[in-house]
Amino acid sequence: MNKIYTKVTDQMNFWEGQDPVALAEKYGTPLYVTNERILRQRCRDLKNLVTYPNFVVDYSAKANCGLAFLQVVRSEGLEVDAMSPGEIYIEKKAGFGADQIFYICNNVSAEEMEYAVKEGVVISVDSLSQLEQFGQIAPGHEVAVRFNPGVGAGHHEKVVTAGKKTKFGIEPKYIPQVKELLEKYDLKLIGINQHIGSLFMTGEAFVASIAALFEIAKQFKGLRFVDMGGGFGIPYKKEFDEAPLDLKELGQTIDKALYKFAEEYGEQITLRIEPGRYISAESNVILSTVHSVKHNHEKKFVGCDCGFNVLQRPIMYDSYHGVEVYRGTEEPSEQTETVTIVGNICESGDILAKDRDLPEIKKGDVLGILDAGAYGFTMASNYNNRLRPAEIMIRENGQVVLTREREVLEDLMRHVIPLEEV
Ligand code: LLP
Repeated sequence: MNKIYTKVTDQMNFWEGQDPVALAEKYGTPLYVTNERILRQRCRDLKNLVTYPNFVVDYSAKANCGLAFLQVVRSEGLEVDAMSPGEIYIEKKAGFGADQIFYICNNVSAEEMEYAVKEGVVISVDSLSQLEQFGQIAPGHEVAVRFNPGVGAGHHEKVVTAGKKTKFGIEPKYIPQVKELLEKYDLKLIGINQHIGSLFMTGEAFVASIAALFEIAKQFKGLRFVDMGGGFGIPYKKEFDEAPLDLKELGQTIDKALYKFAEEYGEQITLRIEPGRYISAESNVILSTVHSVKHNHEKKFVGCDCGFNVLQRPIMYDSYHGVEVYRGTEEPSEQTETVTIVGNICESGDILAKDRDLPEIKKGDVLGILDAGAYGFTMASNYNNRLRPAEIMIRENGQVVLTREREVLEDLMRHVIPLEEV
């Protein structure tokens, strides 16, 4: 392979000696590639965030719930959260026990709650009406409640999940009503939780929110845990040397707050975090093949097979993902040019990377879309009746294994019922 533009994956040794062009040929594209070593490292970074002893990292599986992926996360000693019966189901398949799964639900039906109760997982509810519903379904049960600490954060308004403009959590002013419902249905409140939003690169909002959450916690006796949520960011602009989140500094600040709260609360309390993106984003690159290069009114477009059915983040949030270029044989050009990289979906918004300065890209080149492990495959769809991609994992021992088969056309007929007469 000629390495045309591979700075970031070189720095991370992402390919571990594997040739991305050969992987693209063997498994086809678009292809999600997970690097197991990087995934394990990210799990360990957060497990070691603080010295406080009763500290649990719940991986937030919505970011990436591939079975193999979850198996690795589990083997690192993390627990998991779930957002749906489907996530609970797959987490159990990955070997997590019911006591390692925390179901954080939002506006769910009684049937969904019943499923979670039957599966034996702890449920967190985030409105008074859902607490009432839970009480009716499972009187006498243990439950957790999600509060809105009033402080939000996130890379886009769509992912800020606390503060004044969000549907999530219960406002602290409703604590008396929460207590009434707990009593009415003889429920035992064993934990409270929050999640302020996704992707912060400095810790101020998170630290402020946990202070607010701890004040709420003090109004309840007998809690077993307080869950501070996720949101830990990663640098998406690595090729411009964007600095990572300073985990050491943040960890020290949080650590002090945890010890102080535990002392004030006066019981052995478990403190949890719930990171999704930090654990998963950097461990994945999508390989995509360039199928056309063209000029349209002064703009140069590179057309590849990674449409927004494969990676939705750019169209949904204007998100930035670094792009690398790999080529099989020919020599790369020294010159760079400004190009817009687009996918194969029938919408003008199907733009993966806008106005990027990259070495000349040719038809047949393979692109690497970086930091795609969080909210990548999990948000992929069958839009335009396209097939969802395959996933492979580069194991720590250097072996490459297929962890999800590419969908086939027949999959598009699953659950479809033709009319008998037309
Ligand atoms: N806990 C709860 C209750 C959440 O809702 C989320 C994410 C997390 C934890 C994990 O947050 P993280 O550590 O990954 O930031 N699709 C968007 C992100 C949506 C986040 C939804 N909730 C994106 O691609 O940026």
